Amino acid sequence: VRSLYDLIGGGPTIRVVVDELYTTLTTDPLVRHHFAPERMESLKAGQRRWFTSVLGGPPDGPVPDLAAAHASLVITDEQIAAVIRHLAEALDHAGVAEEPRDRVLAIAERLWYARLF
Ligand code: HEM
Repeated sequence: VRSLYDLIGGGPTIRVVVDELYTTLTTDPLVRHHFAPERMESLKAGQRRWFTSVLGGPPDGPVPDLAAAHASLVITDEQIAAVIRHLAEALDHAGVAEEPRDRVLAIAERLWYARLF
């Protein structure tokens, strides 16, 4: 069985998705204040390792802990919805087909809420 990581095109696709996601996050007035420009490259690298890991890709260094990464942030429901929407758009932008896109979104959403428990 191919992993979702392989299905969407592996590392190159994840790179495009994360680049596009951060471009949108850092220009969206609703969420951009959260993202410190000087930490961008390290945050993108952490995001890539997180997606690689949760989508079943090859081990590639330490995987950030979602709860720890967001513990000191005050994040509203509206901002969560915006980030998920930007992720959907980034997957479309990278050319990921609808079915695997929706599976990726379901995983991200599920793990996002699971971090609370
Ligand atoms: C599906 C939902 C989300 C996922 C999968 C996700 C994933 C991640 C990951 C993996 C990191 C760690 C990067 C690293 O430390 O190397 C991170 C950090 C961060 N996330 Fe999220 N995130 C999500 C939602 C959000 C939302 C809704 C916001 C705020 C609007 C947000 C703001 C941030 C910020 C500001 C950081 C950096 C924290 C720091 O300065 O260390 N994230 N996120």
